[in-house]
Amino acid sequence: MAIQRTFSIIKPDATERNLTGAVNAVIEKAGLRIVAQKRILMTRAQAETFYAVHKERPFFGELVDFMISAPVVVQVLEAENAIQLYRDTMGATNPANAADGTIRKLFAKSVGENSAHGSDSVENAAIEIAQFFSGNEIVG
Ligand code: CMP
Repeated sequence: MAIQRTFSIIKPDATERNLTGAVNAVIEKAGLRIVAQKRILMTRAQAETFYAVHKERPFFGELVDFMISAPVVVQVLEAENAIQLYRDTMGATNPANAADGTIRKLFAKSVGENSAHGSDSVENAAIEIAQFFSGNEIVG
């Protein structure tokens, strides 16, 4: 398996509780390298674009409101098989179903306020990274 990059967001519920470093410690312990990172306040337009695939879902409005409610930390993570590795490191979307030691089991408050986002495919990782980072901001 080749080296991959995935896109990560440390979400408002985690940044508000000052958990950026704690989440990053889990990320690094899993063998993922943080090759780009910045703290931003997403605009409504950015959040709506990012989650456009969910726009027909009943929770879309709530999701967008949440993602712009406080700063987030957007990241590019690099490792062998990074996309699946980070999904395993985050745990299930709903923290009630997340395995012990995962980011969502350790920190998430609910299925909506679930502390972290990670790309679900190579194609989406490339799209999501390009939405927030230019090439010269990513240093492997
Ligand atoms: P994420 O991986 O960022 O991708 C879509 C997000 O929608 C997901 O994490 C959850 O935070 C959110 N989500 C999924 N299901 C629900 C739900 N039932 N209610 C509120 N938010 C949800």
